[in-house]
This record gives sequence, C-alpha cells and structure tokens, in this order.
Amino acid sequence: MGGFVKAIRGAFLDFLADPFYKSQDEAVRFLPDGLLVIDGERIKDFGAFADIADGYAGVETTHYTNRLILPGFIDTHIHYPQTEMIAAFGEQLLEWLEKYTFPTEMKFRDKAYARKVADRFLNLLLANGTTTGQVFTTTFPQSVDAFFEACSERNICMIAGLTGIDRPGLAPPDYLDTADSFYANSKELIERWHKKGRNKYAITPRFALGSTREQLARCGQLKGEYPDTWVNTHMSENHKEIAQVAELFPEAKDYLNVYERAGIVGPRFTAGHSIHLSDDAFQRMSSSKSSISFCPSSNLFLGSGLFMLQKAKSVETPVLVGVGTDMGAGDCFSILRVLNDAYKVAALQDQKLSALKGLYLATLGGAKSLLLEDEIGSFDQGKFADFVVTNPRATSVLDFRAEQALIDVNATPEAQARERMEHEAFGMMVLGDERAVEATYVSGELLYKKPAVVG
Ligand code: GUN
Ligand code: ZN
Repeated sequence: MGGFVKAIRGAFLDFLADPFYKSQDEAVRFLPDGLLVIDGERIKDFGAFADIADGYAGVETTHYTNRLILPGFIDTHIHYPQTEMIAAFGEQLLEWLEKYTFPTEMKFRDKAYARKVADRFLNLLLANGTTTGQVFTTTFPQSVDAFFEACSERNICMIAGLTGIDRPGLAPPDYLDTADSFYANSKELIERWHKKGRNKYAITPRFALGSTREQLARCGQLKGEYPDTWVNTHMSENHKEIAQVAELFPEAKDYLNVYERAGIVGPRFTAGHSIHLSDDAFQRMSSSKSSISFCPSSNLFLGSGLFMLQKAKSVETPVLVGVGTDMGAGDCFSILRVLNDAYKVAALQDQKLSALKGLYLATLGGAKSLLLEDEIGSFDQGKFADFVVTNPRATSVLDFRAEQALIDVNATPEAQARERMEHEAFGMMVLGDERAVEATYVSGELLYKKPAVVG
C-alpha cells in the first residue's frame, strides 16, 4: 500500500457468504450509505459512512447518488478472438466451430491484429462492468502475448493461456499445434506472464475432442511443473461432441475422466458448460474442488442444453460455480444479460434464481470458483479495488418499474431500503445490460465512464 488515498461514497452490495447455502442475513452485505476507501490499487477500508467517515475527513471523495455499487463482474469463460464473430447464424457447436470460429481465429496469427482486438475486447468488458475474465486465446503464442500486453497496460486481472488444439482433421491444418509445440510455447508463456503484475496463466487444452492424448498428457506435465497455474477448458457441452469424445477415448468412463486421466482435474480447474453431467460426474467435480463455468447465453444460443444449476449447488455435491458469457458462442458481453438467461434456464427446470444468488455467482462466487477470493469478489479490506457503479433505473422501463415497487410501508426504514434494493437489483438482472453500467474501476482507477447523453 502507500499509494494515493481516495474514497467512494454510495450504496454498496456485496457478499460475505454463499446465499445458496446461508441465510440472506449471513450472506448479504448491503450498505445504503457506505464508504469505500482506496489506497493505490487496493481497498483500505469499507463500512457505513456514519461509522468510518470521520477517520477520512479531507480525503477526496466521489459520491454516487441513486446508484448501486457492486464488486466488478467476473466472467469465468470467454473467448477474446471471437469478438468479431459474435452472433453467428444457425449452427450448433461442431459446425459453428468449423464454419465461423476457426477461420476467424486464424487471423490471430498476426500479432498486430490480435492486439487491436484485445484492446477492443477489454474495453467492451469494462463497458459491461466486467473486471476479471478467464479467457481463451488461439493456438498462436503471439495472440497470448498481445492479450497480456493489453491487460498489463490496464493493470487488470485476467486469466488466459495458449489454447491448444492438435487433433488432425478437427481444425484447418494451419491452425493446429502439436503436443510438443504446445508444451514448449506454454512453458515460455507461463515464464513470461504468470503472476507478472495481475496477469495469471491458464493451461488451456481447448476441449477433449480437439486434443490428442499426448497433448492432454503435456497439460498434466505443465500443471505438475507449475502447480499454481489455472487449467481452463470445455466439457460436456453438446451431444454430438460428447459422443465423439466417447469414441476417441474408450478407456475413459466419461468426458470428465478424460481430464482426470491427464491429471488436470482439481482446484483451479474450470470446465466450461458441463451441461450433460451424470450425478457421478457432479460428485467427482465436487470432491476434487473443481469448478464449472455456467454459460447460459451460449448454451441457449448454440442449442446445447440446460445446465443443472440445482445439482451443482446441491448440499450433497456442492461444486464451485461461476458464470461466463462464453462470447462469441454467447451472444453478449453483459453478465447482467447472462443472469437473465440463467434465470430462464432455472425457470425451465422449476427453479428460482434470485437477484442475490445471481449477483453472488457474478462476483464472490466467481472469485471463489477461480480461487481468487483473497484478491477480488467483494469489498473486504486488502482486496483490489475492482468495482462497478450500476444504475438500477438506467432505462425508462426500469425507472417506471422501480417507482411502482410494492414496498411494505410498515417495515423499518432499513427493511424498506433492503426490499427496494432487491426489487431494483432483480429488475437490473432481468432488464439490464451495459446501459446499467455507469462506471467501472480497476485497481482503484476509473477505466470506464458511461458517455453522457447529449440533448
Ligand atoms: N468447444 C471447443 N471450442 C469451443 C468454443 O470456442 N466455444 C464453445 N462454446 N465451445 C467450444
Ligand atoms: Zn467457450
């Protein structure tokens, strides 16, 4: 610490525990008038304005009125090279990869192009309130360098890594790497980027279908050599994909077992999608402390299926879960829109996803799923000052809906404020998108401010 001290005043919402398992009183921290004190890039103090403001008289303070300030959103599964191909028409996973994805990603052989897209991608994330992502790149090491260079300039916390695919016939020959080149390039990139500033490295076999046994074994070797790296991949997304994986790996009892055999499953292992999992696979994800990225927008857009959130968040086999846009298969950059889709996916399974549960998954839940809860995900002292200032009444309909809220006027003022916040937060989760994002701070710096509307 010891940087420039400043403060933010306003209404704050974050989480102290998991509302899927704990009561709201235990899990939710809502300060209708709070103060966040920032020293350099980290949080120095946080509390009710009335309790702590005296200690910070004279500190430069930005006061956000009629706003709700949240920890920055965490997108646990997203592809930066797919920015330009978002909203690609008409295909399911394997055809979508062949027709749109691989041809687009091959452009990232050109480092200057990769850097241009990385900048645009990060700026889009910030405009949507996302301050951390677990990010796929391409098979070209220069696309990883370009990405981390862009992140370093912003002092933003991203997890990313070289995205391996070495199975002949699965992608165009010029896009394939080999088990050996993947190993050598990954090693070099880990040495160059892992834990340099806020950058973090994920060993990234794209998916079991795209990697040979040899490449997966190299992933296991890398994880053994660099145990504090992350491992990021896809799993059990699409029926055709799952059938082909079963054919290619007859020795494995299911999709997850392909990764288990490679020695990459455990803490800091994230399997995106994980839609079509058996109870036994949920059990093994739970006991190994692995994590799932729930990507409802993508799962709907590609027609992949309905993730069983209630099984992942069960008491019997609790799995660490975060949410992901999976942009470009996901059709947005907005975690708020992802939560809207999550709500509907839950509804189709007769489940209810409250705003508080949704926002937990998008903040502290995401941080815990990546084992980053010591650094990000809430306003606890010592964490990085990564947060988003939202306007729960950003649109005409949100404003009208908020005005008409049925609030219990006989409740205490505190209970009424809380009820109003929950009503508005749910409105924002269902009706909100980047229009609800007023400002985004990363490492204590204002990196995005919504442009003023003229006229
Ligand atoms: N499986 C392998 N690659 C991809 C990808 O780029 N997007 C999605 N959604 N699934 C994948
Ligand atoms: Zn993906």
